Amino acid sequence: MIELKNVSVRYGADAIGLHPTSLSFKRGEFNVLLGASGAGKSTLLRCLNMLTRPTTGSIHVQDVGVVDTAAALRLHRRRTGMIFQQHQLIRRHTALQNVLLGRIGYHTTLRSMFPLPRAEQHIALECLERVGLLEKATERVDRLSGGQLQRVGIARALAQQPRLMLADEPVASLDPATSRRVLSQLKHICLEDGITTVVSLHQVDLAREFADRIIAIAHGRVVYDGSPNELSDALLQDIYDQAPTSGREEIPVPPLPSFTQLAINEE
Ligand SMILES: Nc1ncnc2c1ncn2[C@@H]1O[C@H](COP(=O)(O)OP(=O)(O)OP(=O)(O)O)[C@@H](O)[C@H]1O
Ligand SMILES: [Mg+2]
Repeated sequence: MIELKNVSVRYGADAIGLHPTSLSFKRGEFNVLLGASGAGKSTLLRCLNMLTRPTTGSIHVQDVGVVDTAAALRLHRRRTGMIFQQHQLIRRHTALQNVLLGRIGYHTTLRSMFPLPRAEQHIALECLERVGLLEKATERVDRLSGGQLQRVGIARALAQQPRLMLADEPVASLDPATSRRVLSQLKHICLEDGITTVVSLHQVDLAREFADRIIAIAHGRVVYDGSPNELSDALLQDIYDQAPTSGREEIPVPPLPSFTQLAINEE
């Protein structure tokens, strides 16, 4: 469904985010990226929709081809949902308005400034229903819990009708029980819709529980790629023991589109 060929990322003269890496992801597969802080999980994840531009290599997407033109990138991003650690919702907007933002890639900028058609609202409401939040559709998101916010984030990504879903530590700020519920819902929906999913996690137990395939990264290289059952404790120990000692600042997340006046069409 999507393939990276010799993709590498260099952030500066001596900062390597990812050594040349070739990976392919199958339709409907639930992939989990594991690795210590600074290993390269976000770098790899963000290469998949080119939020981080690879320094070398190419990205091939089914029905798009090589993502090497603006048109190919637009097409690829339209069908790629992204879920962030800090959900990136607009707090003063309702859940429905936030989910409607997922539809913007299907409209011109000018069109998005006016009420979106009723059909769009149906898609958004359906997505909220799938994450069990239909009754919160008209609630401002600053009144929702952390788990509910993350589920609105999933609904927004689903509203894109994605083929690929990327999630960078989507449950990092949730308690263990809520994390399990959110991941289980995400996996269930992606399986149902045949969406290829790549999720980075810090919780090895959750990775083992939910992943079809685990890709472990250390120092910008893939050091394990296979089933959760064969990932040994010894290798995990190795991966996490090799963590760099220095901390690192969070990578800023690009802002959401600014056309936020998504009025609800009352016709
Ligand atoms: N924008 C940037 N500029 C310079 N170096 C960067 C940048 N982003 C990441 N790096 C470096 O690239 C390497 C991989 O970082 P990345 O964010 O991919 O790690 P990660 O596995 O996602 O870590 P974490 O678990 O902390 O989120 C690190 O050494 C990091 O310092
Ligand atoms: Mg990261």
